Amino acid sequence: MSSVRKVGILTSGGDCPGLNSAIRAIAKALYLQMAKIKIIGIIGGYAGLIEKDYRVMQPEDFYDIMSLGGTILRTTRQPFATMQMRIEGEPSPSKLAKMVSTYKELGLDCLCVLGGNGTHKTANLLASEGLNVVALPKTIDNDIWGTDVTFGFNTAVELGVEIVDRLYTTAASHSRVIVVEVMGNRHGWLALSTGVASGAEVIVIPEIPYDIEKTCEAIMDRVKAGRPYSVVVVAEGACSIQEAGTPRRERATARAARGFSSVSAELSQGIELATGIETRTMAPGHYLRGGAPCASDRILTTQFGAYAAHLISHEVYGVTVAKKNRKITHNLLSDVAGKPKPVLPDNPLITVARSTGISFAD
Ligand code: F6P
Repeated sequence: MSSVRKVGILTSGGDCPGLNSAIRAIAKALYLQMAKIKIIGIIGGYAGLIEKDYRVMQPEDFYDIMSLGGTILRTTRQPFATMQMRIEGEPSPSKLAKMVSTYKELGLDCLCVLGGNGTHKTANLLASEGLNVVALPKTIDNDIWGTDVTFGFNTAVELGVEIVDRLYTTAASHSRVIVVEVMGNRHGWLALSTGVASGAEVIVIPEIPYDIEKTCEAIMDRVKAGRPYSVVVVAEGACSIQEAGTPRRERATARAARGFSSVSAELSQGIELATGIETRTMAPGHYLRGGAPCASDRILTTQFGAYAAHLISHEVYGVTVAKKNRKITHNLLSDVAGKPKPVLPDNPLITVARSTGISFAD
């Protein structure tokens, strides 16, 4: 019989569709598995733990949220690098110390954390301080190591494809090139899947710096084939071969000095100058993080949430839920935290894309 009586839940980092369906599954499974369970909602991610901002949840708080976008617990970004910094003029030495003391003051038996890479690093830090932590991998970027997929990703791909499908009709009507910049500041999973699913001519990801000449070659090949319009899908974290050696922060400053606010702005100007084809650009940005989760994310979050409740009821801590080869399982937080999951050049989806004529501008 589990001794767990009080579980805290928090959502941290960028929001995404599926957070509420995951929270719902955790809560419903906990209430069914452990009659005396009390669930504490930590408000605003780790900030809630730092500032003691929380709410005692009731079962009805989890009703009717399967299709609700965003997070009922709200979220913030708390950079991992600030967690152990001393807070000037405060009795507690650091954010980490304040989070540990809140956990103890609330009498939590476990903390369930839903978040991306930064969130997992802090979750691992809390676990190393002796807190009982179970994490769920969330991000539209799908770049958390150890799981085939993170929740939020499939919905973002669906939204991205809907956008690119529509852009094709206007590109064709005007014989234009349209450059679509999707989120993904470090890794190109979202751009890769969106590009393949929408049949984009060119996909540009951070892991493969683009060559403007190769980009234009792909576009002109279509013109020669009687299709004087194209769509290019680019990840916001991508760069040119000329920029490849420059650190990310310096890259943005140098690009701004050249008069470009984004990779897509510079790429689209380069295409128009080299090909003479009218080129437009658009960036759906946070649209890709809004609204209801798609069906597959609802299923995935229900699986993740129910499994997290199972881990909690069996007092298995210091872990993060995962989906590997269609199986719901878990990894050690210490194995996942801080380990990136880049798109490798020999990734099967890249191979398939190239085999159907998609260019990676290289
Ligand atoms: O959560 C991942 C992400 O959506 C990235 O793809 C994107 O670059 C970033 O968050 C945007 O962060 P913010 O919502 O803080 O602007």
